Amino acid sequence: MNKKLIAGNWKMNASLSTNDALVKAMLDGLQGAVPAVDMALCAPAPYLAQLQTLLQGSPIAWGSQDVSAHEQGAYTGEVSAGMLKDFGCRYAIVGHSERRQYHGETDAVVAAKAQRALAAGITPIVCVGETLAEREAGETEAVVKRQLAAVIHVVAHCTSEIVVAYEPVWAIGTGKTATPEMAQAVHAVLRAQLAAATQHPERVRVLYGGSMNAANAASLLAQPDIDGGLIGGASLKAADFLQIVAAAR
Ligand code: 13P
Repeated sequence: MNKKLIAGNWKMNASLSTNDALVKAMLDGLQGAVPAVDMALCAPAPYLAQLQTLLQGSPIAWGSQDVSAHEQGAYTGEVSAGMLKDFGCRYAIVGHSERRQYHGETDAVVAAKAQRALAAGITPIVCVGETLAEREAGETEAVVKRQLAAVIHVVAHCTSEIVVAYEPVWAIGTGKTATPEMAQAVHAVLRAQLAAATQHPERVRVLYGGSMNAANAASLLAQPDIDGGLIGGASLKAADFLQIVAAAR
């Protein structure tokens, strides 16, 4: 079984000075010890060079929060997977619900982004998750399966190389966490879908994201099919993030 992965998603919260202090506090907190889990921080694109400088040679990997679906060319404002690779990114979040919701990203666009990341040697963290209305309509399983199926269809034999993050939209930034049982139920569905799609489903880590914090991380991470966390707000506080890392053994 893989090590768990605890990844921070800073979203659009960063500055040179706050990043510097936050990363140094995290590295100080690790006290030179190699954590039992894999760790990553996903920053806004302009700060990836800074993370490369601060984190190179440390146990913390870094990544982006998005990647272009295109390889290169006339796509003003876009950042390609090759560019992210230049700055040492190991991961790229794709299909975060905020991008699906505010930037109109479809399942097909998300799948193309995942494929671009893989082609550049970057691990896509593919986000799936239902809205509150979809959950209340009993559509949770169908929604997450549709979102993941679109990616599996495109990345095909590379499915074992992705990371999946189940992020119920109603739990993001709201303080409302899925209970460990609710999260586990969806993770089991995703795990079964992955098992049918790849010969090595055990290589795929399925993270939970949505108001995971220092207090609730241990019970979520104790579930058999929860292989880590994608952490928003709590990744902006070194002590909280490190407590989640410590809970993930
Ligand atoms: P919060 O942890 O702030 O709820 O955000 C979760 C998330 O969206 C991570 O990608």
